[in-house]
Amino acid sequence: MSLIKLIDFRTFADSRGTLAVVEGNLDVPFDIRRVYYLYGLSGDLQRGFHAHHELEQIAICLNGSCSFLLDDGQSKERLRLDSPRQGLRIEKMIWHEMYDFSADCVLMVLASEHYDESDYIRDYEQFVAEVKHAAGP
Ligand code: TYD
Repeated sequence: MSLIKLIDFRTFADSRGTLAVVEGNLDVPFDIRRVYYLYGLSGDLQRGFHAHHELEQIAICLNGSCSFLLDDGQSKERLRLDSPRQGLRIEKMIWHEMYDFSADCVLMVLASEHYDESDYIRDYEQFVAEVKHAAGP
């Protein structure tokens, strides 16, 4: 099964422009407890490089574009996120990296929990070890 899970948001377009709707527990599969966003990004720098034990997230590229690497410890997939109509699910225990940000990129993330540094796995070898441990012998 693909690691890339995109959600198409409901949009209402008319001569005034487009309105997109994201409702917790309806359009995204969790209550939204936190929103953060990245901007002023540099195309030659990379971010992310972690996974979460429990956190569920949806990334929405509101403006511009950026690339994602998703990794479940067994396979990796890449995609370019470039539409404000779509959200990318970043499920728990998915190592993710973001790169190739356009200069105008605004990347918003909806999160299922408040910020908790103890939920992060920031070491890739530890992440792979935890995936293997969860899979059993
Ligand atoms: P960091 O994890 O390095 O960002 P990225 O995943 O994009 O590479 O986070 C940058 C800083 O922001 C770090 O000091 C932690 C802080 N932070 C919060 O305080 N609250 C949050 O919700 C997030 C996502 C980060």
